[in-house]
Formats: sequence, C-alpha cells, structure tokens
Amino acid sequence: MAAEAEGLPLAAPANTRRPTATRNILPVLYTLLAAATFLAYLAVRASEDTQPHRFQHVPLDADVILSRCAALYKTPGPPTGFSARETSERFESDTKPTLVRNATIWTGARNGTEIVYGDVYLDKGIIKAFGDIPETLYTERNDVVVYDAEGAWVTPGLVDLHSHVGLLSAPLMRGTFDVNSRHGPVLPWLRSIDGFDTHDDAFLLAIAGGVTTVQVLPGSGNAIGGQAFMFKLRKTSDRSPTSMLLEPPHSLNGTEADHDEPLRWRHMKQACGENLRRYGNRMDAIWSFRSAYNEARKIRDAQDTYCAKVEAGLWDEIRGQFYPENLQWEALVDVLRGRRIDREQQISNHCYEEVDLDDIVRLTNEFQFPIASFHHASEAWLVPEVLKRTWGGTPAIAIFATNHRFKRESYRGSEFAPRILADNDIPVVMKSDHPVLNSRYLLFEAQQAHYFGLPPNMALSSVTAVPATAAGMSHRVGILQKGADADIVLWDSHPLQLGATPRKVWIDGILQVGSDEDAVVIGKGKGGSAFQRVPSVPNWDKEREEAVKWEGLPPLGTVKHSGCVRFRNVGEVVVRDPEAEEGLRSLFVGEGLGDVVFDEGRLVCVRTDCVNVDGSDVVAELDLRGGSIAPGLMSFGSPLGIEEIAGEPSTGDGLLYDPFLSDAPGILDDKGGMVRAADALQFGTRNALLTHRSGVTYAASSLAKSSTFARSPYTLAGLSVTFRTGSAHALESGAILKDITALHVVVSRTAPFSAESRVSVSTQIAALRRLLLDGEPDHTEIGYWFQKVAQGGIPLVIDVASADIMATLLRLKDEIEEARGSNMRMVFFHATEAHLIAEDIAKANVGVILEPARPFPHTWDDRRILAGPPLTNDTALVALVDAGVTVGVGVRDAWQAPNTRFDAAWTVLESNGRITKEQAQAFVSTNLEKLLCVGEWIGQDGGDLVAYQGGGTFDLSSKPVAVISPGRALVEVF
Ligand SMILES: *[C@@H]1O[C@H](CO)[C@@H](O)[C@H](O)[C@H]1NC(C)=O
Ligand SMILES: *[C@@H]1O[C@H](CO)[C@@H](O)[C@H](O)[C@H]1NC(C)=O
Ligand SMILES: *[C@@H]1O[C@H](CO)[C@@H](O)[C@H](O)[C@H]1NC(C)=O
Repeated sequence: MAAEAEGLPLAAPANTRRPTATRNILPVLYTLLAAATFLAYLAVRASEDTQPHRFQHVPLDADVILSRCAALYKTPGPPTGFSARETSERFESDTKPTLVRNATIWTGARNGTEIVYGDVYLDKGIIKAFGDIPETLYTERNDVVVYDAEGAWVTPGLVDLHSHVGLLSAPLMRGTFDVNSRHGPVLPWLRSIDGFDTHDDAFLLAIAGGVTTVQVLPGSGNAIGGQAFMFKLRKTSDRSPTSMLLEPPHSLNGTEADHDEPLRWRHMKQACGENLRRYGNRMDAIWSFRSAYNEARKIRDAQDTYCAKVEAGLWDEIRGQFYPENLQWEALVDVLRGRRIDREQQISNHCYEEVDLDDIVRLTNEFQFPIASFHHASEAWLVPEVLKRTWGGTPAIAIFATNHRFKRESYRGSEFAPRILADNDIPVVMKSDHPVLNSRYLLFEAQQAHYFGLPPNMALSSVTAVPATAAGMSHRVGILQKGADADIVLWDSHPLQLGATPRKVWIDGILQVGSDEDAVVIGKGKGGSAFQRVPSVPNWDKEREEAVKWEGLPPLGTVKHSGCVRFRNVGEVVVRDPEAEEGLRSLFVGEGLGDVVFDEGRLVCVRTDCVNVDGSDVVAELDLRGGSIAPGLMSFGSPLGIEEIAGEPSTGDGLLYDPFLSDAPGILDDKGGMVRAADALQFGTRNALLTHRSGVTYAASSLAKSSTFARSPYTLAGLSVTFRTGSAHALESGAILKDITALHVVVSRTAPFSAESRVSVSTQIAALRRLLLDGEPDHTEIGYWFQKVAQGGIPLVIDVASADIMATLLRLKDEIEEARGSNMRMVFFHATEAHLIAEDIAKANVGVILEPARPFPHTWDDRRILAGPPLTNDTALVALVDAGVTVGVGVRDAWQAPNTRFDAAWTVLESNGRITKEQAQAFVSTNLEKLLCVGEWIGQDGGDLVAYQGGGTFDLSSKPVAVISPGRALVEVF
C-alpha cells in the first residue's frame, strides 16, 4: 500500500461500477494503475478538464471506501460455504451424534408435500442425512445416541415469525417489560436483542410445543418499532442473548464484516393502525413513516452519489467528505437498499385493515422497499390484489387462526382467511404474537387453519418453511434438509391432530425435552393409526364464500323449524341424565348409523323406531354423515354477551365502580355498588353468535374483564347471568336462563403494569371477611347478596390464581361457615396454581374452573404451573380430577368461547388416557352447571342438543350444523 500511504496523487480507474476487488488485489491494482497512469500523465495533461480522466488525490483508505461502496450492491444470503459446512457454529462440543430411526419425515420441502420414510442423523449441530442413510455414515462413531421413532412423525422445529418472547417475559413483571418504547413513533435504531431476557419461563414451554426458532419483534406501539432478531429458544452454555441469535447481522457487535461475505438478513418491525393512537391518528402515523423514509432516502441518495464518484475515480470531488451515514437511520437506509439488493431488510409490518394495508403498500411504492410479511392483517384476505401491489413482491401474511374481534381493526378477521389467502397464492404464516397467544400452542393455530380449510401441506408449512423463508432463514431452519440446523421434532401424533405433543425436540442436535422417558409419559392412548394420519376436516366452501361476499361480516342467523326435523346417518346420540355418571347418557353408539327425529325440539324416535314417522310431517332433513347429537356446551369466564370488542369501551358495559378505590355513586345507596350482569347483557354479538354456531349454547358472564396482562382490576365483579348464546334479545323465550347466577369477586395481586394499583390482597380479604360476616345491612344490595353467599344461597366465584391466596380463602371459608353455621358454595376461577393444594380444595368442597385450560405462567400469582406432557406427567386437570375436585374449563376472552370444544378435547388428548371424553364434555357443560348451580335451569326440558356433521363434539372432522332446543320447541339449522 506504499503509494496510498504516501498520499501520492494517482488517477483511479474510471467506470469500475461494480468493483469486485478484494483487499488482497486492490493494492496491486492500484500500484499498477499508478505506474501506468503516471506514464500517461503528460499525454493527457492537455485534456485535463475532460472528466473523468484527470488526476485525483486518492485517499489513504480508498480500498475501504471502494469495498464499502461495492457492498451496496451485495445480496444477502447464506454465509459462504454454508452448504459444505461440517460443523454448525452453534455446536456445543459435548453433544453426541443422534440417530432417529424409522420416522415418517415431513420435510417442509416442495411446498410441504415431501414425505420421506427412514432415519434422521444429526451431528455437529447439523442434519447430516435423512431417509435411507448408509450405515457407513455413523458406524465409525461409537457414541451415537439412537432413538426408535416407531414410524412416528418427524418435522423441522417450528418457526414462530411473531413473538415477543424475552421482551415480555414470564412471569410478567414491571422489570421485564421491554417490548415498546414510548419515545416516539419512529425508532428504527432500537433492537430487540438489547432487551432480550434470557430468564423467560416461556422458552422451555415453547420448545415443549415444538417451537425452536422465533423472530423476536419489538412491540407494535410505534410506527417503526425497531429491529427484530431471529433467536433459537435453546439456552446456550454461554447464557447470553447474543449466543441465542440465529445468523445475526455482521455489524451487530461492531465487527466489520469481511466484505467478501454475503450480507446477513436484517429484520425491521413496523406497525400501523390503532396502536399508534398515542402519537396521533392514522394520517399522523403514515406521515411519520414518510418523513422517516425521506430522511433515509436522503442518506441513501447521498451515499449513491458519493459512491458513484468513488467508482468513477473522482476522488477529488469527495475530498474531505466522509461516507454519508447516520447511525440512527442506517437501518432504514438498508430497508431502502431493497431497491437494488433484494430485501436486505426484512420488514415485518403489523397492519390490520384495508386502509392500513393500502397505506403501507402505497408507501412501499413511493419509497420503493419490500415488505417480507404483514402481521395480524385481519383484512388481508379481503384485499389480495392490494397485497400483490406491494413493491418488490407479495409479502407473506402472518395471522391468528381464530383470535379475532379483540379490537375494531380485527373485527373482520376470519377463520377462513388462511385458505382464502392461499387460494390467492399468498404465502400464509400462522403466528403466536407470544405472549398474546402462548407460543407453545403455535401448532394449534396451524391445526385450526387446517380445520377451516387450509390444505395440510400448507398448514404445516405455515409454521415451518413459510415463516423461515419470510425471514430469510430457510437454509437453516423450517425445512428438514441435509446441511440445515439440527432442529427437529418427533411427535406423538400427526402434527395436525389436535393435541399433538412433541415426544422429543432437538435444537442444534441437542435434546431439549423428552429425555426422561421413565418420568414423563407422552402420547399414551394415541397408539391407533388414526392419530398418525392427517385429520379429515369439514367442507367450508359455502361459509367461505359468504365471508368474502359480506366482507368479513356474514350473517350468522339460523333457520328455525318448529315441526318435525329428521337427522339421517347419525352415529351417536348423547343426552343429559342427572342420574348418570358425568350427567350424560348415550342412547346409541357403535351400532351403525341411523335416523333420529325431533318434533318441536323433542326427541321422537331413534333408529328403527323412526320408520313409523310420517314423511309428510318432516319439515327439514339433515344428513349428519356419521356425526352425532350431544348436549350443548357452556362457556364461562369471558365478557361474552356483555361486550363485543374488548378494545372498544363503547361496545361494552363501561367502567365498574370500585368501592375499594372510591365511593360508589350515592344514588345506589349501596356502599359496594353491587351490580348485575343481566342488566348489561346484549344479544346478537358476533362473538355470541359464533359461539352458538360452535355448539356452545349457554354462557354465564360476570362483569369482570381480564386481559393478557392483568386480571380484572375490580375486586367486586357483580352478579353473573346465565343466558343462551343464540338468542336475539333478552325478552325472547329462553334467552335468559338464570338472571342472578353467582356473586363474583377477583382476588389478586396488583398486575405488573396496570394503570390502577389494586388494593392489597390483605385488604381484599379483610373486606370479604367483613361482608361475609354480616358487614352490610340486608336492605342494601351488597349486604343482601353477601348474606346469601355466606348462607350458601348462591355460589361465590372467586377469580384467583395463586395457591397461597386460595389457601387463605379456604381458611376464610372455614371461618365464615363456623361463625354462621352455613355451607358456602365456593368456586375458584382461573386457579392456575390449584393443583398445588388440590386435596385441600377437594376437602373443602370447593370447585375449580380452570382458565386457561392449558396453563401459562403469566404473572407472579400463576407462576407455578403444571405444564403437562412433555414436561410433566400430570396436567392441572388430571391432578384436580384425581383429587376429587369438581372441575370446569373456562375462557378469558369472548373470541375464545367458540373454541370450547377443542379446548375440552385437548384435556383428553394430553392426559395420557386419564381423562375420558365424557369427563371433558362435563368440564364444559354439566360440571360448569353444577358449580354455578344452573343445572336445573338448563336441564329442565332436557337442555339444548347440538347436531354435528361428520363426527363427534370433539373431533376435527365434525362441524356443528344445528341446535335442537326442547325448551324453545324448535330446531335451529345453521
Ligand atoms: C402448494 O400446494 C397447494 C395445495 O396444497 C397448491 O394449491 C399450490 O398451487 C402449491 N403451490 C406450489 C407453488 O406448488
Ligand atoms: C417402523 O415402525 C413401524 C411402526 O412401529 C413398524 O410397523 C415398522 O415395521 C418399522 N419399520 C422398521 C424398518 O423398523
Ligand atoms: C462478533 O460477531 C461475529 C459473528 O457475527 C463473531 O465472529 C465475532 O467473534 C464477534 N466478536 C465479538 C468481539 O464478540
């Protein structure tokens, strides 16, 4: 480098538009050019002013500048030599090679259609071979760990494209809230790695669901929220967040990349719509994008101009100037570089509505940058052509399966969206938004997408190959291929079967769960070949078309028949019977298919008896195709019927008065401000009608309202009401079943980041004690109803999660009963930690309504979960049932109510045969009725029955098609 070091004036070669020179050849090149040019110096001197052939002062670091400019044209991709690598850089040296024998391998390749039978061999953190593997590959090794898959399914580890794991870590605390910055709408310089907590309880849980890689996104509270990173969930021996990263950008730790190396993918999070309200409205949000991209564009253009001069050899023109850059905007400049380097920055854009999607698509065209994926995208399925206009290509769409209507912009979300997007050739990704949905059940999203029509190859790809591709990581994860990272899952059933549970999960070839086969039983009772096949699912063509036609709000009414209705090809009929076990009796099962006829909603005949029914009396006929008729289910726990859109106060009852924080309105003349949910009830909400259509015909709702992050902030949650989910209004016959069902209180610690602090637990308990021991006079509502509760007249349902608080409540119950000589009816709702004191709860004759059915350690109060297989043998339900507790299963949000039958099915599927279908049916019907004392009201006319086409209540093959209502003397057909 002698010539440059001395700063000699040299002429640089002109028009080296894309220099490929490396550091090694550059000095040679310059020396040669220097010599040649110097000789030509005199000759060209006369034409000095004809650009660019004039003499230039080449700076000392010209090669650095040149290679930096050259890098502007580089394409990101797998590291050089990736396909030939022998060892993963993530390999941990004491890891033995692993051979998984005799597996059915779904690879994720070829659009998710490739299935290979054989073995998988993992070594050095890499998938070395799969399928028919020559023994010579491992015979030399004497340390190979061998597992027999016995023909079971193996898939690549699941990839969750939208997670906040590590940023909102569990149990949630103020100290772990690192997801949103409040410092403005545009923050492209923030990086999720900088807030990533390595102690999140969710890592292991997600792995237990087969999830191995996640994209950790900053929150969606900002237009440009910051840079996202891909992480593997395995805790490393290094213990640092950095060591959990998957192929981080070269510049992350300040190390300059070798400029010969391909660039690494970078990831950016953007959001639009309602979340940006704190910074203005939608117009403000889009302007914030435009002004930010304009800044970035100026820098990008300055760089281009600078580099054009450099590349033209016009060194004098950049004399004294530095390469234009700005650390705050460099990430956005990289986004804009998408114009020339195919998607260096992979944008994940949170965007729900047509207006938002259209805004961002316009923005991509104005500034010319690509989007890798739209997230949430509730209305993406309505605007496929808009999506296709995205600059640089159609993004993948990352959505929930059934988590819709939680805010206005998700109101038109549809369970049919995955299929409709796929029909439009738009890549579909199912995601968790962990902890909004527990990442552990990411696969459940794919299972539901499949249930509602997404083909099986695409459903599985939606949580593996497609997200991996959208993140630019499919060379390593998401597709089981030779040379990829050794991240695989061995399943206990076909992964699209409800309740599919990993028997084993490897990340980087290291076994993460399923090592102790003696301690934890996995998949018992799933031996049959049916569990190993893709489940058959109903046909939803008609519903899907209607959804599109009505732009996401198809009518949800029913056709009501009061005459004779005949169901053909019925495989099973189950009715209520208070005398029978679980309160249910089977009329016929396993005797082939037959007819069942109802007249005015009353059972007339089954099977052969039905030959006598006069055909002319039959007003409607339905073919159940081997399906079943079973009692309607019940939902408890959410604001179903009280509120339609959780994020819109105008669709709900409004604020409750909290007598713990301020005096109740004087006009009530009631210190406690006791109110009734029945007074706030609204009918015909979409949540309620969809719940009805899913076979959940009854619901009980209180005025409590929990969120992902906090239980209801009010201790007193009013008197609940039990109602029919399908009724049109409160005055319709049978709409309200029991207008005062139970008294509800919430006893919990302060939520980690709620605006209002709750009063202390001790104050809450003290108040309950006083109220139950005759604290307020009878003529007040609060006095009257607490007296009633104390005497066992109506149930006291306590929303409580902590075992310690439950223990306190059991002691309180003793105290009250002793003092008053009564027997209270107490129910713990939520009750995450109930399994720790199951025996005592049973002894105290207290019931439990578990929510969620599959636990997550959201907060301190519910941190001690019983996770179930593959982590623990027992589930909380198994533990409680074994102890003799009467258990129900509840939900938190209204959108969850339609999923009741799948939640119940899951309790059976993860119990290793210890919970029966009949018990599961009871968890969401007769047990709830018993605990809330509404059995007589619901069952007085035999109760509503639901007809399922193609299967039973809990089968993925079945679809509810009618409700039979003896109480209302009719059959409703959907
Ligand atoms: C992927 O599979 C689906 C059906 O399962 C099909 O409709 C689609 O055309 C396939 N895509 C490609 C690129 O082969
Ligand atoms: C693979 O497992 C299946 C199911 O257990 C068994 O039927 C089959 O014989 C096994 N094949 C081999 C090659 O071991
Ligand atoms: C920085 O990261 C690169 C990989 O991206 C790694 O090779 C290098 O050792 C790291 N340097 C430090 C100081 O951690």
